[in-house]
Amino acid sequence: MTQRNRTGRHHRTGAAAGGLTAALTALALLAGGCTEATGGVRGTPGAAGLRDPYFPKLGNGGYDVDRYALTLAYDPGTGRLAGTAEITARATQDLSAFNLDLAGLTVDRASVDGAPASVNRAGNELTLRPREEIREGAEFRTTVVYGGVPEPITDADGSEEGWLRTADGVVAVGEPAGSMTWFPGNHHPSDKAVYELRLTVPAGLEGISNGTRTGRRTGADGRVTTEWRTAEPMASYLATVAIGRYETTTAMAKGTAPEATGSPATGAPAPDGGAERPVAARTAALRGEIPEIIARQARRFGPYPFTSAGAIVTVDGTLGYALETQTRPVFPAASFDRTTLVHELAHQWFGNSVSPASWRDLWLNEGFATYAEWLYTEEYEGVPARTHFERALAQEANWAFPPAAPPAAENLFDPPVYQRGAMVLYKLRETVGDRTFDEILRGWPAKYRHASASTDDFTAYAESVAGRDLDQLWDVWLYGEEKPDAP
Ligand code: ARG
Ligand code: ZN
Repeated sequence: MTQRNRTGRHHRTGAAAGGLTAALTALALLAGGCTEATGGVRGTPGAAGLRDPYFPKLGNGGYDVDRYALTLAYDPGTGRLAGTAEITARATQDLSAFNLDLAGLTVDRASVDGAPASVNRAGNELTLRPREEIREGAEFRTTVVYGGVPEPITDADGSEEGWLRTADGVVAVGEPAGSMTWFPGNHHPSDKAVYELRLTVPAGLEGISNGTRTGRRTGADGRVTTEWRTAEPMASYLATVAIGRYETTTAMAKGTAPEATGSPATGAPAPDGGAERPVAARTAALRGEIPEIIARQARRFGPYPFTSAGAIVTVDGTLGYALETQTRPVFPAASFDRTTLVHELAHQWFGNSVSPASWRDLWLNEGFATYAEWLYTEEYEGVPARTHFERALAQEANWAFPPAAPPAAENLFDPPVYQRGAMVLYKLRETVGDRTFDEILRGWPAKYRHASASTDDFTAYAESVAGRDLDQLWDVWLYGEEKPDAP
């Protein structure tokens, strides 16, 4: 409920008796950004960005999203997306206006709590000005009706993200900024929300997204509408949509990973095309290992954080890398192998349940997911983590910069974030011992379950479990520019 007409509204001007005081008050009010028309309201516009060290304009200030309800219809023939986004948020300040991030597309209209809101557009920033200001603490519902042909974003590192058109549909990947190519929102990992998504696709195609499939029906025109619910908070970069000739399966063996049962889990290439047949057989076999891998990881990392699981495997060459989209990571068929699967499933704990507070904290995702690969081969293939550590140590590329301080946005996904990130964890294990390390590995995703956390949160947490200062370890491995002489 939105609270308006606060009684204290005219308090400051009313209290101003002397001429000098009145003049100062008026200046203060102007500086606060209030408008004449609304007669001294105190709200100010929410910030246009959250000052992320690498992407200062990503996300927006002044509110916190609780829930996205997205209704999308896509036609792969024309490439046109028609969407309605209903965003339920809570104001964290008195708001006269606020921003949403959206790249490309056209906004037809917007409203706040049912009343039309004005919309201004500057680059990827939409500014919505509601008819009445929103009070701090109030929950408000924004509806944006939009559409157009989504354009992908080229990342600082040259990779493509966003709404990527495939041979027969689309696959949407959003790390770090691609989700704003297909829905307006607060696109920074520090603001997580639950999602509901309704997706309509042409006859003969299947639509897949995150979470649990709560409905599927075929319309009179043959179009297929599916409904998806992500009940656990999700960072927007982990939202996905895949549309194409997918075969979906719901089989998740009971007992091994009970949290993963009962949802349409997997999109795999339809096995009808001759050339695609071997791919379909191989992906089906590996898909079958998902419950067991999750169960093994749950023994090390604690309970699987979500109520559904699976994988989406794309066959054409559009997608250049795998991404740990929540509950249902996406893979190009070429990189759907066990190591990558282990990596993306580990992200469900490290990155998805515990999300980075800012993009500087990305090593908390990639270092852990890489370390999870080392652990997997140590436990199940007999290759000690030490071997991986030594290999990583020997590679020059891993020493380009410290994992907790990538020099620029284009370096975010470079080897040091992954490999040196994992080396930090290996050294932590060596320093505190296996038992304490295991406690940290389970305790970290439990403490920050479904939240966002920073590097400082991690170092403080590890020290609290270890019961001692670990400054030297962080100085050398997390922040040190040089490769140590005697590692
Ligand atoms: N997080 C992905 C992984 O599992 C990689 C994403 C790469 N994205 C990019 N913009 N380069 O490793
Ligand atoms: Zn990763």
